[in-house]
Amino acid sequence: PQAVAFHGPHQAGIATPVQDRLHFAAFDVAVSTREELVALLVSWTRAAEAMTAGRVSAADDSGEALDLPASRLTLTVGFGPTLFARAGEDRFGLAAARPPALADLPAFPGEKLDPARGGGDLAVQACADDPQVAVHAVRTLARIGLGRVSVRWSQLGYGKTSSTTPAELTPRNLMGFKDGTGNIPYDDRAALDEHVWVAAADGPAWMTGGSYLVARRIRMHLEAWDQVTRQDQEATIGRTKTEGAPLGGKGERDRFDPAALPADSHVRMAHPTANGGVRLMRRGYSFVDGSDSQGRIDAGLFFLAYQRDPRRQFVPMQRRLATGDRLSAYIRHVGSGLWACPPGVSPGGYWGDTLL
Ligand code: HEM
Repeated sequence: PQAVAFHGPHQAGIATPVQDRLHFAAFDVAVSTREELVALLVSWTRAAEAMTAGRVSAADDSGEALDLPASRLTLTVGFGPTLFARAGEDRFGLAAARPPALADLPAFPGEKLDPARGGGDLAVQACADDPQVAVHAVRTLARIGLGRVSVRWSQLGYGKTSSTTPAELTPRNLMGFKDGTGNIPYDDRAALDEHVWVAAADGPAWMTGGSYLVARRIRMHLEAWDQVTRQDQEATIGRTKTEGAPLGGKGERDRFDPAALPADSHVRMAHPTANGGVRLMRRGYSFVDGSDSQGRIDAGLFFLAYQRDPRRQFVPMQRRLATGDRLSAYIRHVGSGLWACPPGVSPGGYWGDTLL
């Protein structure tokens, strides 16, 4: 099937099996009234319904996706803290509706965040199996929003790094390791309800069925990583490179005792047993943005994680990883964002209609 259903109780692009390509964009909103914000989101929703179904109108489209199928395009939208209030100003009368779980992320040890790669009133995650389809989708929303929104920053990603489909071969990240083995599978409803979807009891009511997205642009020091022995790399991750098996085990899917892994290994420190049972739905992509001024590859993992409450999930986990994870020596978080992704849209509705 080439088209992923747009409508439903949850937004597509979260529990959807991960597509091959990503175009992620953070937008700032330039309009000043709630009516204008609603009009923008209505026009974005109508365009998303058409594009995700593979319908592109030749008359008024930029054209580059005209001959391409839907390519499993999904568009997922999130609302950033600054949409609810910016510099103390309640721009759209939404300040009281801001979810407590959408609390600004704290500073983490070792991060070096570039403000030009962080934040944004709105986030759009476009995923598709064809990069041109994902790029066209973001470009189209930006074009529709001309004068009403501006792109604050964006990120292209390729090579999904976090599988959510255990039956398929697990993809590898740029460090050469299989990524996504311990992830929440897209069809594990119990785990999704427990760790990903906001429940009615969590509040606020408008977020029921939604999820919180944390994005981190994580640069990898690949030149340094490549100088390290395979044994050292495996001790850093806590799994073998070729097979992806937990150290001491044979197969990727072997059951294992995390306490038997090196104490500072990534898998041991990120494992639910080390984090009060919490998990994340990881949906990240590799990126390579050429090289930096010193000739080093500007590459890494564009980490995307969906969760029910970042205050209980990403934040404490990242705090632990930033201080004790042996992997920290080879990576640096350089971009960051947090958004509340509203529930899915019903036919005739629009993104955010439960809030606005
Ligand atoms: C597992 C790589 C950043 C959370 C893994 C695995 C690898 C990996 C290779 C083992 C396979 C798997 O289960 O998916 C990386 C790399 C990172 C990175 C290269 C940065 C460039 C992060 C961050 C978090 C995180 C920032 C969360 C704050 C997890 C979790 C698991 C995991 C929850 C599953 C552990 C388990 O239950 O077995 N990661 N990771 N990772 N990672 Fe990361």
